[in-house]
Amino acid sequence: MSLWEQYSAVRSHSVQICDKLQKEDYVVQPVEEVSPPKWHLGHTTWFFETFILVPHAVAYQLFNADYNYVFNSYYESVGARVIRTDRGNLSRPTVDDIFHYRAYVDEAMEKFLLCGVSKEVEELIILGLNHEQQHQELLWYDIKYILGHNPLFPAYDADNIENGLTLTAEGWADFSEGVYEVGYQGNTFHFDNELGRHKVYIQNFSIATRLVSNAEYLEFIRAGGYLDFSVWHAQGWDWVCEKHITAPLYWYEINGEWHRYSLSGLEALKMNSPVSNISYYEAAAYAQWKGMRLPTEFEWEVASSLFEWGKLWEWTESAYLPYPGFSKAAGALGEYNGKFMVNQKVLRGASVATPLNHSRNTYRNFFHPDMRWMFSGIRLAK
Ligand code: AVJ
Ligand code: FE
Repeated sequence: MSLWEQYSAVRSHSVQICDKLQKEDYVVQPVEEVSPPKWHLGHTTWFFETFILVPHAVAYQLFNADYNYVFNSYYESVGARVIRTDRGNLSRPTVDDIFHYRAYVDEAMEKFLLCGVSKEVEELIILGLNHEQQHQELLWYDIKYILGHNPLFPAYDADNIENGLTLTAEGWADFSEGVYEVGYQGNTFHFDNELGRHKVYIQNFSIATRLVSNAEYLEFIRAGGYLDFSVWHAQGWDWVCEKHITAPLYWYEINGEWHRYSLSGLEALKMNSPVSNISYYEAAAYAQWKGMRLPTEFEWEVASSLFEWGKLWEWTESAYLPYPGFSKAAGALGEYNGKFMVNQKVLRGASVATPLNHSRNTYRNFFHPDMRWMFSGIRLAK
């Protein structure tokens, strides 16, 4: 596939994910972490405009000079921006304006690519495509949150990515202590946070070959897991008490029967599906209640060839920290990953919302421990 073909394929996938939405769905921001779908469509376009066309395409004219303020997410080097909590207050640019913006930038990218680009610019474009793929995954979380927090519980579509959430066979894989190597190795795309590859010493451990199911998680609820401070971290217990948390996100007990909102709408809880939309606090409390723990990201990586993964992101016990020798890129793109390496936990794997060709066993996803609108699940270790 030529670079232009790769570009078009990724760009049209974002639009395709949103195709089932109504215009009104594109605009709202029900909570801080959920961005309006139209914002994702604008921001990913802004990324190509700002980091590729403006610095590298001769005589490129901005689509609209005011868009930098609206679509800059967090790049201090690129200037002032709308505060994150206000993304849902923007009735303008309209959804149509943003589709015009996409078409304008895509046309400029096509012309630009036709002339041939340097290796360095090609790498930037591939970063832009991987960036857009990250936002495709975020689009799924946000669309599910927007529809799933509407009192009418509208379905996205009966045919949707969550239909792939099935469980594999139960079992354990055992590892002997020793020196293992972790981190990215190869010549394909990877994020800066997957480097440098380095050695770690791992003690004997066992890791589950499948994720925790809804049925198993329900046992934790029925045993009073959300009422027992002793299985929670202090911060987790504060979170449970302050937010009155009694079950995973999207779970509803209706006339004594557990239901769950999925992209198909509200349905009876599927006992044999992996529990999802779980915070780190809940994952860790569940593991504690079982007398086990979550794997570290290193245990996960060395064991990953022995189990099926990729349906849900898996919380690890590891803090999101730089690897030995980690270095940030020069300039604005140095802000991409490194500055978030504080107070977050690493998740490994991928999910049914992860686009094709966007997963590796060295991929380090990261979120704050109270976040659970992602497609996250639990794998146990001991
Ligand atoms: C890797 C999912 C935590 O949501 O900020 C999007 C992905 N980075 N734009 C995030 C990302 C830049 C990132 N996560
Ligand atoms: Fe982004």
